[in-house]
Amino acid sequence: MDLACGREGCFQTLAEGRQGGRMTSALGAESEAERIHNLIQLTRDWGVWDAVSLYLDRCQVDTPMNLVEATWRHVQELRASVGKVVDFGAGDGRFSLYGCYREYVGYEIDRDRCNNANLPTNAVLLNYCAFSDTIENADICIGNPPFVRNQDLPDGWRQHASNVLLKRTDVIVSGLANAWQYFFLLALASLKDDGLCALVIPYEWVSRPSVKALRNYISTQRWNVSVYRLVDNTFNSVLTTSSITIVDKAARDGVWTYFEETGSGDYTQLPSPSGGPDGVITYLRRSEMGKSEPRAIRGLSPGTQKVLTLSEGERARFGLKMGRDVVPCITTLRHLPADVKELNEASFQTYYRDIGRKCWLIRTDTKCSKTLDAYLDSVPPADYHTRTCLERAQWWRFNMPPKPELLVAMSFRGRFPKIVTNTIGARAVGSVYGIYNVTVAQTERLTAYFNDIDIRDRVVAHSNGLRKIEVNQLNTLLIEAFADDFPTT
Ligand SMILES: C[S@@+](CC[C@H](N)C(=O)[O-])C[C@H]1O[C@@H](n2cnc3c(N)ncnc32)[C@H](O)[C@@H]1O
Repeated sequence: MDLACGREGCFQTLAEGRQGGRMTSALGAESEAERIHNLIQLTRDWGVWDAVSLYLDRCQVDTPMNLVEATWRHVQELRASVGKVVDFGAGDGRFSLYGCYREYVGYEIDRDRCNNANLPTNAVLLNYCAFSDTIENADICIGNPPFVRNQDLPDGWRQHASNVLLKRTDVIVSGLANAWQYFFLLALASLKDDGLCALVIPYEWVSRPSVKALRNYISTQRWNVSVYRLVDNTFNSVLTTSSITIVDKAARDGVWTYFEETGSGDYTQLPSPSGGPDGVITYLRRSEMGKSEPRAIRGLSPGTQKVLTLSEGERARFGLKMGRDVVPCITTLRHLPADVKELNEASFQTYYRDIGRKCWLIRTDTKCSKTLDAYLDSVPPADYHTRTCLERAQWWRFNMPPKPELLVAMSFRGRFPKIVTNTIGARAVGSVYGIYNVTVAQTERLTAYFNDIDIRDRVVAHSNGLRKIEVNQLNTLLIEAFADDFPTT
């Protein structure tokens, strides 16, 4: 095999490409108008330009060179000689600059990203959508796919990518999947039977429910997986902890190993994805719980907190009456001192009303008073320009949530998320979970139980040590807390 090392190979001089088509060369400077024209051609079926351009903006992240090099090191530990390398979402083709391989093909939708590419002679960038070709003969799929949230994926893009992946892998990608998940599956589908996938993707893929189908796909094939969790702040702009993830199709022992990068750049092996001996808290589905059992439910997503929840000042300014027009709610517990264990009149006043926090939710379960009507009429349409509001017959009419007995924060840094007894009967909104179906005695037991446990090792940390417990994990903990009362679940 004629192998050339990316670093040492001589760089291709790139001259011209076909409009909206296959481009085996980089480009000289072009105007923004030309760039957009080209992008519009290539993304015609993705959806409206606003959505496409938002997606492309979110993609603009360059992988630090030391991370590109580290990714290649993992590859070359497992493959001494490499034939074809494919990079979906290649940017300036920087993954072609390391490693020894025969051929590198990078797919990049945005011509602007390849403008200054200095590629080795055996590397090529194609100005195509990654999902437009069917590749099945890659030895290595490498790269850093876009980290774009599911909400920011253009509808047409999502539909096309899902169809391609369903056809090629039989996997139905979750509607909650972020862009990198589609690229991950595409990479796996594009490899030979003994190929190797090496991607920079969020570490959370090892445990998030929205990635379950992909994990199951890999497990069923029994491919070996190694996940190297990187120290925080590798990507300053992206709020997630990243990993170098290796899937080796040639090693079919079904072994998954987890490592954490140390300050010195080495790795230590972790006993489980979360780092603790007990592993990640499992996710309990709603259908697995009895109707009368204690349960945690997500905070209300009213469509827009900006206008459907109000601070004390806003409520007073619009003349909205407590009880008649608005009811207490909380959208965060973050600022609450650790020793406040109860949300009662006094703590609600001090930590919400007096300091201008959002603390009132408009009532949608009774006929609106004239004052509330006038307030809703006064809201400029731009303030409720969200998918949820626009899909409603009346943009503001959400289903009024019940009052939970306990309020729990979704994110936490300490041993357990903040939890308070909800004496005032505030509604849980946004990133505050509510716990329902508990008696006063159970509430006390639960608070004591949660104040006593440490779940840091059982939840995968996000950026800067912040952890986020999923509602279905909280339900698992409820079952654990009441194991004696509900032994069958
Ligand atoms: C996170 S960046 C990584 C760029 C480069 N590989 C790097 O590591 O620095 C992801 C790239 O994917 C490109 N991209 C996004 N969607 C694409 C698609 N459907 N087809 C091809 N490229 C795409 C973006 O334009 C962006 O350059």
